[in-house]
This record gives sequence, structure tokens and C-alpha cells, in this order.
Amino acid sequence: MIRRYDFGCPVETGAIPEKPEALRDSVPYFTQTTREGRLCFTLALDKDDMIFGLGEQIRGINKRGHLYVSWNLDDPNQNESRSSLYAAHNFLVFVQEERTFGVYFDDPGRITFDLGYTHGGEAVITSENGDLSVYVVDGPDAVSVCRAFRKLIGRSYIPPRWAMGYMQSRWGYASEEDFRKVVREHRERHIPLDSVCMDIDYMDNYKDFTWNRQLIPDLTKLSADLKRDHIRLVPIIDAGVKVLDGYDVYEEGEQKGYFCKKADGTDFVGAVWPGRSVFPDFLRPEVRQWFGDHYHRLLEQGVEGFWNDMNEPALFYSEETLQAAFEELENLKGQNLDINGVFHLKDIVNNLANNMEDYRRFYHQCGDRRVRHDKVHNLYGAHMTRAAAEGFRSYAPEKRFLMFSRSSFIGSHRYGGVWQGDNSAWWGHILQNLRELPALNMCGFLFNGADIGGFGGNTTEDLLLRWLQLGVFTPLLRNHACLGTREQEIYRFDNWEAMRDVLTVRYALLPYLYSEFMQAALTDDLMFRPLAFDYPEDTVACHTEDQVMLGHDCMIAPVYEQNAIGRHVYLPEDMLMVRFRSAEDYDLVPVPAGHCWVNLQLHEFPLFIRKNHVIPLARAAEYSEAVSVEGLRLLGWMESDTEVHTQLYWDDGVTTEPVLEDGLTAIDLVQDGMSLHCSMEDADLTGVVIE
Ligand code: GLC
Repeated sequence: MIRRYDFGCPVETGAIPEKPEALRDSVPYFTQTTREGRLCFTLALDKDDMIFGLGEQIRGINKRGHLYVSWNLDDPNQNESRSSLYAAHNFLVFVQEERTFGVYFDDPGRITFDLGYTHGGEAVITSENGDLSVYVVDGPDAVSVCRAFRKLIGRSYIPPRWAMGYMQSRWGYASEEDFRKVVREHRERHIPLDSVCMDIDYMDNYKDFTWNRQLIPDLTKLSADLKRDHIRLVPIIDAGVKVLDGYDVYEEGEQKGYFCKKADGTDFVGAVWPGRSVFPDFLRPEVRQWFGDHYHRLLEQGVEGFWNDMNEPALFYSEETLQAAFEELENLKGQNLDINGVFHLKDIVNNLANNMEDYRRFYHQCGDRRVRHDKVHNLYGAHMTRAAAEGFRSYAPEKRFLMFSRSSFIGSHRYGGVWQGDNSAWWGHILQNLRELPALNMCGFLFNGADIGGFGGNTTEDLLLRWLQLGVFTPLLRNHACLGTREQEIYRFDNWEAMRDVLTVRYALLPYLYSEFMQAALTDDLMFRPLAFDYPEDTVACHTEDQVMLGHDCMIAPVYEQNAIGRHVYLPEDMLMVRFRSAEDYDLVPVPAGHCWVNLQLHEFPLFIRKNHVIPLARAAEYSEAVSVEGLRLLGWMESDTEVHTQLYWDDGVTTEPVLEDGLTAIDLVQDGMSLHCSMEDADLTGVVIE
């Protein structure tokens, strides 16, 4: 059952396509209070209660014990002291002794989740706007709560299958030769690869929908040549539009009045990569259509996917804050700056970016209401993603395009995926990558992944290798790094062969991973789940924070510590460990339920398959189009005299309206004591262990 409650005058966020009628009584389970104009919802917590959700956020799978703020923010320092990342995913699942329920706060403004931080025994959710809808989703259990919520928010975005291949990216590739070289280096070494990202350097002076014609004289040819090699180019698009006379996107938007305005009706000017920029009011359908149609310029060059960035929106400064800063700095000139003076000086500069004052300076048009930006801040990136998706649909409605965004809000999960923002080359960020997987799925974002190897800081060979060993299971598998950091393409490292071997496993598992992704998308299910969701009666499983369930059949447990030679794994049930070195080289080790230590040398990583389940493994391939579902090997651990039934979904990977039944093939394995039979013709059963 899903119940809706309205407060104040909620803005249409687009999160819920079909809303149940609003009820007049108060939200169940919570106590409602108003504090200084803010609306607070308080829930008493027992010692053993657990809280899941919040999508892209820092810290644990169980979110209890910290303070989180939904305020989309461009800040690359993703450490444990942070409360906000790039997205606002206001959905939580409370697992309590007496009930399990979900609650969604459909509020596009700033909202704080104090989940046992101020007082361990209570959760307090505070909406600054006070204008919102609250949806309560009842159990019986966490998985059904999530499925009901996902059904409410609508089907998740489905990318083309090539987007689940390996993607190489780096801020700094600029010229045609840079892109060709990346492809050459991979292909020469047989390192699998499906796409290469184009970061801001491909643009002409950081102008959206342009490319530098000196560095890339013929983009159509480049893209066609690479496509012959089964490689797609994936350019970035930023939210801010450069202010420049003669630049058609700026002039057109300006003339149509499409950029966000200040109270006096003039354009709000903030700075991003190109310096002074204006910001399309993506909350208006006509602006979305106009901006979305501009993607056609690159689609016409053969491009089939994009990433949307800086769409929190990120602001380096506004004209007003910059002016005020210069004046204040002038005042400080010649003064004897003591400790307070020095801090003040630093603050003047540090507070230039993403300043709250700036977010209160401009407005959006939401239907017939003019709304100040800070009231709807968290919608901006989501509506940019929607603009792109609508642009793709008008270009080729029958075709899937790749779209992933940095900023997001629930609702944009129908239009694109996300990456987890500017992480760092830290071991702890492998764990963060893992922990966000189930939480993002709960909020609808199935297509997601992190910058593998780490975006900021210098990676190390072992960090990249271990991170790839997690990345091969995540739908978005992208190696990306910041300008100025150590180059981290696989071929730069002595141990590149081990990394290549890890990637062969991704391509061998693609039929399984794609099938699980599609089944999750088409049935509003979770591809990744906390162990707590599958084994709610198992206290150890419920508190396991470094392993997650994958699909119907598996569990993953990556190594995330330097110099480790293995790790501790908790098995809630008997499982077959596949210790992979490559798609062709692995051990099959039946492991009984309980605690165990698993040896994993640097080039080895595990996948755990539940007993009496089987998963298919294809032959290794160098790009996704070469992956075949003929002659699959089946891996699994069966008890004798059992039957195992599983389903594999496979389609052409590009058309827009996939139908579950059309793509499913049954795999039935029967072990009748004498021999093993499989319903799938030409399946190779050497990976099936019989007890
Ligand atoms: C932002 C993005 C990052 C990108 C950089 C340059 O920091 O998050 O991925 O490389 O901008 O465009």
C-alpha cells in the first residue's frame, strides 16, 4: 500500500508519474512538528532498527548514525565528514521490529536526514521548504517495499548494451590522435574496449555542442572509423552555456529568454569552465526541448551517447560574489593579518564557489509559478538529463542512447544513469562504490558506476586492479581520471595483462549481467541488494557492509585493502566460489555457509554463486557486439537429484521497447543421479559441480 500526504504547496518534481490521491490525516509512524518554519518528521528508533536507501550518499549501506543532507553539490572531496554529494535521492527504508516500510520525501529543496546522529534513538527528517509530498510505502519486507516504490516512480532507464562494455576516459584527451591512440593501445594488446569518453577538451573553448575543428577536423570520420572498430565516442555536455556574442546556442537561448533570470528579469551570470555562463531553465518544457534538440548536432556526427556534467549546477562564482570578494580583498590590503584575518582571507576565496547566496539569486518558471532556485535546487541536473533523453527520442525514437549524469533526482532514473561523481584514488572509495550500488538501485538508478581507479589523486597499479575487480560487476564500467593526475589507462602499467584478464571476465559475464540488469529494469527490481534484504533473519548478514547480493544468484565481495592477500567473507548460505583470474582461468570452490577466509592474490577475485543456482559464462570477447550467447558454459554447485531453473534475457541491445517475455530463455538443469541434462542446446556443463 502506498499513501501520499501533501504539505504546503508542493512543486511538481516529475518524480512520480501517476500519483495516488493525497490523504488529509498525518503521516503514519512519524511525529510532525514545525521548527522555525521548517517541517520536521520524527521517528523513534529502537536499538536494532536499520535504515537503508538515500541512493548516492556517503557512508554505510545501513545509513543509521549519521547526518545526510540532500543538496546537490559539486565538491570533489568525498570524505566521511561530508553530508551531501551530487544527487538528492530522498527515499529511505526503515526496518524495525514491528514493521518494515519505505518513505519518500518528494521535496526538491534542501532536506536533512538526521538518522540517529543528534539523538541515537530518533530519526528526524527536516524539510527547509515545508512544501512537499510524503509517500509511505508499506512492507511486508524491504524487497517488496523497494519494488512497490520503483513501480511508483516508473521504469528505470535502459542503456544500449554497448554501454555495459569497458569505457576509457580521461580529462585531457583533446585531439583526434588522442582518441585513436587510446583505441589502438587497447586493441593492440587485446584489452577489451567499447567506448572512449570525450571530456571538455574536445569542445571549442568549452562551448556546448561544439568541437575544436583544429584538433578534430572531421568528427564524422573519426566516429565512423572508430565504430568500424566497435568503439563509440561519448562526449560530455555541461549545464552552463558560455556567454559569447556570435555563439549560436547562447544567442538563441538569450533571444528566446530561456536562461534563468534574477529578480530584476536579467540573466543570472555565473562562471563555469568557459568563465561567464548562463543556465538554461531546464524546468521549462520548451527549454528542455530546445536544449535537447542541440544534442542532434553530435548525433549527426555518429555519436550515440553522452555524459551530462556540472549540473548541480556547479558555480565557480557569480558576477556578484566575485565583485564583493574583490572589494573585501581590497579592504584587507596592507593590513596585519592575524589568525582570524588569514582565515577571513581564505574564506573570501573559498566561498566563491557554490555559494548559497548565489543559489538564491535566480529563479525558475515552474508552470505559472516563478520559484527561487534554492527551493528547487535538486531538480536542475535531473531536468537536464530529461532534456537530453527527450532530444534522443525526437531524433530516433526506436533507438537506445547512452546517457549518464553527475547530478540527479529521483525521476531522472527514467531518462539516464549516473556516475558517482569525483571520487579519489583511495582504497576506501572501492568500498564506497560497492555500498552505493544497492542504495542507488532502491532509488531507481540501475545504470551506475564509479570512476574506476579514482578520479582525483594518483592511482596505483594495485588499486586500479582491485577496483576493476569490482567494476566488472557494475553496469557502468568506466576508468576515468582528473587532469594532472597519473595516467591510468590499463596499458600504462607493468601489470596490464592482469587487468586485461579481469576485463575478460566482464565480457564473459555480460550475458548474465545484462540479463539481470534487464530483468531488474523490466520488473522494477533491484540488481544489487544488501545482504540484509535477502537474509533478514541472519544478524551477521544484516550487518555486513562490504559484500552485496548481485542478481538472483550471486554475491560479490571485493578486496578493498592494499597489500591484501585475501579477505574475510561471510556466507549466509552454501555457495560456490568462482575464483577468477580471467574468463578462461578460474577455480571452482564449494564453500559452506559461515565465516571464511578466502585467499585472493592480487590478480584473483571472487564471485559467489548460491547453491542450486547456475549462471552462464560466455567466451571472452574484445567488445560487446562480439559476445555470443551460443555455447555458454554454466557455473554452479548442485546437490545431486535436483533441478535448477533459471532464465536468461537477451535481445538486440539497441531497441527501445524491450519485452521481457520475448527475450527470456529458460535454462533448466536436471541432475537425476546418473547424469546431468540441460535444456539449453550446446551448453557446456564443465563448470557445474555436483555434490
Ligand atoms: C567534473 C566531472 C569530471 C570531469 C571534469 C572536467 O569534475 O565530474 O568527471 O572530468 O569535470 O570536465
